[in-house]
Amino acid sequence: MNLSRRSLLKQAGLLASATALPIGSLLAATDEPLPETLLPYLQNPGPDAMTVCFLAQKATGVKVAWVKDGQTKLTEVEAVGQAIPGTPWTIWKARLKGLLPGTSYRYQVRASPGDAKEKLPTYDFRTLDPRASELKVAIFNDIHNQLPTFEAALATVKPEDFEFSIFNGDMINDPSASDGAAVVFRLWNEYVRILDGSRKPIVFVRGNHEVRGSFCKTLGYLFDLPNLDPTAAEADHQWQYAFTAGPVHFVIMDTGEDDSPTTDPTSYKRPRFWEAYRRKQTAWLEKHLASPVVKNARHRVFVSHIPLHNPAGWYSIVSRDEWSRKVADAGFELMLAGHDHSWKFVPDRKEFTIGKGPETDTPTLPVLIGGGPSMKEGTLILLTADSKGLRTKMFASDGGKLLHQEQYKA
Ligand SMILES: [Fe+2]
Repeated sequence: MNLSRRSLLKQAGLLASATALPIGSLLAATDEPLPETLLPYLQNPGPDAMTVCFLAQKATGVKVAWVKDGQTKLTEVEAVGQAIPGTPWTIWKARLKGLLPGTSYRYQVRASPGDAKEKLPTYDFRTLDPRASELKVAIFNDIHNQLPTFEAALATVKPEDFEFSIFNGDMINDPSASDGAAVVFRLWNEYVRILDGSRKPIVFVRGNHEVRGSFCKTLGYLFDLPNLDPTAAEADHQWQYAFTAGPVHFVIMDTGEDDSPTTDPTSYKRPRFWEAYRRKQTAWLEKHLASPVVKNARHRVFVSHIPLHNPAGWYSIVSRDEWSRKVADAGFELMLAGHDHSWKFVPDRKEFTIGKGPETDTPTLPVLIGGGPSMKEGTLILLTADSKGLRTKMFASDGGKLLHQEQYKA
């Protein structure tokens, strides 16, 4: 089912301002309150399941009705609501289970009161299919709330160019709890609207600017990640996860802050906390890399916000030392990263000098680093896997020029 831009804007409560203001101005329009319900969005995609998330201020008894495309018998699932501390919002999550791989479904959020009178739209989505021979993914990073850069990047691709998207960190800049974290909710709703996140899942990877700001410890409530309990203590948050989509297995790791072994231990960057946090993920990674799902995948891609190798110097030393060799030995072909703000492709097994030296590094795998957040530096990466192999194309946000393309070794 197709929805017009106008109806999406109406539901998001943005119709009046969206016609009068550039998108970037919406975040500053604090005099305009957010609507009581935001657009539903998809999380935690699987071959047999999908999570529908719905942010609402007053709705109760939220349910999600769903049906396989072409059929009429609806299944209704009760959503589980969690009040988000310090905000007027409740996140409602409904896990739709027992789905078939690579199959289209339709769903509708149903809520009362408030939304009962106004029928909410119906959206469609497609489950992942690990047996599919093809995959197309769009990867964004380092937008730092700059919606004009984000929108410009999207202008270079067509909706059929990607099945889902990956946000590879620093998309939400130092999330603030002020005014009930209004900027975070407004921004997230804009990302969902622009990317059609009600139909295509947004795979969220945490960046170092998402571990800063007064709302950072609460941010996890917005997402559904397999290992993440947002009510747990910060040190026990687990943002790392893995999934297979078509012929590609993705492993996503949380590089946390951009501290280094020489960062002042009393700095706001809390280097001792984040070193321990990264090391804690290593046991999960080792166990996961030994699992059949990794061994049997046709392609393997490692994703982290901070690069594990970077000649410009913005890289995570502990993450590199803990994970890089293990990931390469498990047959991964590519590392995707951001953080640097200047895009670059770092070839594997070629020694480089880090910054002005004297240290050197030799990457175990090719590293593709996306840029941002300025219009000049912003990029969009399209990853494709098919019978010809695993490839990436990187485009400039401004004008869509092809900046780099690469074919990876299987
Ligand atoms: Fe960053």
